Parts: sequence; C-alpha cells; structure tokens
Amino acid sequence: MTTDASPLTGYYRFHARIYDATRWSFLFGRDRLINLAAATVVRDGLERSARAAEIGCGTGRNLLALSRALPGASIMGVDLCRPMLERARRAVARTACPAQLQCAAYGPDTFASGSLDLVVFSYALTMFNPGWEAALDTAREHLAPGGRIAVVDFHDTPAGWFRAWMGVNHVRLAGHLMPELQSRFTPCRQELRPAYAGLWRYFLFLGQK
Ligand SMILES: C[S@@+](CC[C@H](N)C(=O)[O-])C[C@H]1O[C@@H](n2cnc3c(N)ncnc32)[C@H](O)[C@@H]1O
Repeated sequence: MTTDASPLTGYYRFHARIYDATRWSFLFGRDRLINLAAATVVRDGLERSARAAEIGCGTGRNLLALSRALPGASIMGVDLCRPMLERARRAVARTACPAQLQCAAYGPDTFASGSLDLVVFSYALTMFNPGWEAALDTAREHLAPGGRIAVVDFHDTPAGWFRAWMGVNHVRLAGHLMPELQSRFTPCRQELRPAYAGLWRYFLFLGQK
C-alpha cells in the first residue's frame, strides 16, 4: 500500500487544514516532552551533534521546537500522510529550520541501525494500529547504544463513549503503550497526567536504550 492509500491519509486530507488551529486544545504535554528530551541530549553532551528524529511528525511543530532547543543537531521528520508533511515542509521552509523530511510509513528501512541519538513519538503511536509494537522495536533498533526515546501520548479513559469516539479518529486509547515502553527501554522519567478533569489521561515517557 502506498502512503497515499492509507486510511489515515484520507483522514488527514481534511484534518491537516485545521490541525494546528485545534490540536493545542487537547494534545497536551508536547512542549514539555521536547524540553525534557532536549535537556537529556544536552546532558549527554550531544547538543551540537545529536541525530534526532520525530516519527509521525505531522505538521512539524515539534521539529521546529527541537531545532530551536538543539541548534546544530541533525533533525529528521518522518510521516506517512502527505497532507500533513506538506504543512511541515512549508513550516520548515518559512522558518529556515534545517529539518529533513521523509514521507513514508515508519519501518526498519527508514534509518540505519544504531544511527539515532533521540527518537520522538508525539501523539503518533496510538495511531499506529496495527504496528505500534513493531514501531517500538524498530525505534530501539535505530537508536545508538545509550540513545533516548521520548514519547507523549494518550493513555486511557474511564469513559467508553470517549474511547469509541477516539477510535473513530483512529486513536487507540487502551493504556497499552507504557508497559511496552518500560519493557524495551530503561525509564528515565515517566509522568501520567489527567486531562479535562480526568476524561482521559496522557503520559510522558523518557527512556534510554
Ligand atoms: C496526531 S498526529 C501527531 C503529529 C505531531 N507528532 C504532533 O505532535 O503534533 C499523528 C501523526 O502520525 C502519523 N503516522 C501515523 N502512522 C504512521 C506511520 N506508520 N508512519 C509514519 N507516520 C505515521 C500521521 O500521519 C500523523 O501525522
């Protein structure tokens, strides 16, 4: 299947247009994740030489933040959906951000083994259905020894109707990511936070290979 044939590409053909104007109101923790991830890279002494990739980079907002936080680092963005990546391309060009972009479904061939110091997933893995387990294994393979993974995403909800609604929007809300991250990476920081008075919880995870 080409990336253009993915059901997600159909979904984002419309949503890309309103993405940046709407997602600030519910994709919480993204700036915090980027700041924490960048701080660990600086602590590792890689501020100017880090090779960092965001998988499912969408419209590129996190790439811009990463490149501001880590000037001199190689920043790469990968996304399956052309309509989202086109927005990222424009944002990168507008701000002269040095990020390189790739339109592809994330997989073993996306990067060389051991070639990354930081992999970021921001509200992407809950949309890898199927494929989130393979994506975590692949990220582990792409990271250099000691490399970092930074993830922010939806965790769970007590409300069945909300879980169903998120399913309609291609998001799986089942608390399934945290345990799998913990089993593959050494946790450096983990946070679980409520949103909208507990309608759902989201998490941040920073781990090391
Ligand atoms: C909710 S958006 C998050 C965008 C951005 N990371 C953010 O925080 O705003 C999820 C993104 O993951 C991308 N995505 C989903 N499955 C993917 C896959 N298998 N490979 C690459 N990107 C994928 C989607 O196209 C979408 O742009």
